[in-house]
Amino acid sequence: MLLHSGWTNLHPPLATLGVVAYDSPILYYGVPMSAIETTFDVARARACFPALQRRQGNRLPIFFDNPGGTQVPQPVADAMSRYLLEANANVHGGFRTSRLTDAVIAEAHQAAADLLGAASPDEIIFGQNMTTLTFALSRSLARWLKPGDEIIVTHLDHDANIAPWLLVAQDTGAVVRWVDIHPDDVTLNLDTYAAALSPQTRLVAVGYASNAVGTINDVARMIRMAHAVGALTYVDGVQSVPHLPTDVQALGTDFLACSAYKFFGPHAGLVYGRLDLLEQLPAYKVRPATNLPPGKFETGTQNHEGQAGTLAAIDYLASLGGEQGLRRERLQRGMETLRRYEQSLGEHLLRGLMGIPGVRIVGITDPTRLDERVPTVSLTLDGLTPQALSAALAEQEIYVWAGNFYALSVTSRLGLEPNGILRVGLAHYNTLDEVDRFLNAVEDIRRD
Ligand SMILES: Cc1ncc(COP(=O)(O)O)c(C=O)c1O
Repeated sequence: MLLHSGWTNLHPPLATLGVVAYDSPILYYGVPMSAIETTFDVARARACFPALQRRQGNRLPIFFDNPGGTQVPQPVADAMSRYLLEANANVHGGFRTSRLTDAVIAEAHQAAADLLGAASPDEIIFGQNMTTLTFALSRSLARWLKPGDEIIVTHLDHDANIAPWLLVAQDTGAVVRWVDIHPDDVTLNLDTYAAALSPQTRLVAVGYASNAVGTINDVARMIRMAHAVGALTYVDGVQSVPHLPTDVQALGTDFLACSAYKFFGPHAGLVYGRLDLLEQLPAYKVRPATNLPPGKFETGTQNHEGQAGTLAAIDYLASLGGEQGLRRERLQRGMETLRRYEQSLGEHLLRGLMGIPGVRIVGITDPTRLDERVPTVSLTLDGLTPQALSAALAEQEIYVWAGNFYALSVTSRLGLEPNGILRVGLAHYNTLDEVDRFLNAVEDIRRD
């Protein structure tokens, strides 16, 4: 069981661990955090991220590799280091550092519940990363399947929300049905989803936002359709949580997985699961460990410093929503503010790319449909492989990825293997100037 009592007694020492860092105006790189209010001030946000200030030669690097992993603000590194230096212990001991550890872990679960809109911190399972957690939960869910049951996956998903279910099907005799895409704008073809659903459907695995091309799927609708036939839903929120307000209760999803290192935290993963389901679901665990969620799914000793850092990352996101109200409210406001800013950046990027001859954008390009995408924009450039383009950009300290990013089904379906696409993934700390520097660089490389 997580330790929730005694938290107020531990509050002062936790504050020194950065656990409640944003309750007081702390200076990071000379900027009061409280100054980041609901109107988004990118310069103030950037000042929290040391990596963004670190020059390489005469240039500042441009981090457009965000879908692969984001940079961390100073408070995240501080919280991790303080945990290790001041509270490092195993859980559930009677002594000070162990009690501090229990409190950090409890608060990290509460913060994650606030981020995702979960009703209880016991609905949050921490783990190594989204992929490992999804494999573990898929093992458990497999216990509820029999031959002939059906699982639905999509061609748009990252393989971490496909392969575990293909393997479950292999092991149980379940049948896999695929949701196709519209190749023109790389959105899900919901007619193929409706056709795949049946009373045999037991699970629908779908991504909230595509890591490859940025499409936001209408998961609320897909969840309603899945529930109408009695199926469970497993949503991959890895690429939506860094960009959109998340509300698992409003969505009604049974599970939603994400990764802290994609939302300005450390390398850690977490999954929301509906409490009644987690209570019933069998866990692969050691016998002396608790039989209660989330502990029964958090096998072995956890990455405590990772949870301290995740907590600080969530508090950072909450700080973008100002100081008024509970953390959940500040998070909602902060994520709305960040989303609006990112949409303006994304629009600038899309319009700029569309003006460069030879560039083909893979995904939604219509500037009136920005609500249907996150600012992850993928492309090909005539005459140059994505790898060559990415290498040329890297020489100018512009960091982007090339390939399929494990979204193998979508690049295969679009005929873009083996080279894949170039992916430009923006985050809230990027600027219009950076987008312009990138666009000019692509234009120059194309001309050379
Ligand atoms: C959409 C999506 N799902 C899942 C994953 C896998 O996440 P993790 O590295 O936490 O296992 C990624 C990683 O890039 C991703 O982008």
